[in-house]
Amino acid sequence: MAVVTTEEHGRPVGATINSFSSVSLDPPLVLFCLDRRLGALAAFEQARTYAVNVLHDGQEAVSARFGRPGPDRFETGRWTPGRFGAPVLLDAMATFELGRHAAYDGGDHVIFVCRVLDAAWSPEHDPLLFFQGRYRSVHVPD
Ligand SMILES: Cc1cc2nc3c(=O)[nH]c(=O)nc-3n(C[C@H](O)[C@H](O)[C@H](O)COP(=O)(O)O)c2cc1C
Repeated sequence: MAVVTTEEHGRPVGATINSFSSVSLDPPLVLFCLDRRLGALAAFEQARTYAVNVLHDGQEAVSARFGRPGPDRFETGRWTPGRFGAPVLLDAMATFELGRHAAYDGGDHVIFVCRVLDAAWSPEHDPLLFFQGRYRSVHVPD
């Protein structure tokens, strides 16, 4: 699971996503897809920089808070502005700071293809997954 963020006139916005995928190594591109009905879609379309915060299995509350309608989402988790303005989650499993490369029609979603501007990760965590309607984790022994 991941939370994608950006900011609009200094106001942070974000949503839980599972549509995060790698695209290209050279140049380094990734994508995420946003529902056209998403409340913050206009903010994402106007912005040019984003952050994708990949969640670990202790961050179910963050995924739940950003995955349903409601204000004050950034009160859940410890957030700080990233290098390029979009909010980053301080103890995320991985963080990708992104610049918009292209946006495409994806039916009832918009596909944002982004260049990776910076990336950080923490190897000691297991990822938070969502499968068959439930949050789950997976642990790979060393
Ligand atoms: C497990 C999970 C995965 C989700 N994946 C996506 C996604 O990939 N793209 C998307 O636009 N919304 C996704 N959502 C839904 C949005 O997070 C949710 O609709 C949004 O935060 C609601 O905000 P709004 O009321 O401001 O529109 C997902 C939600 C959950 C719980």
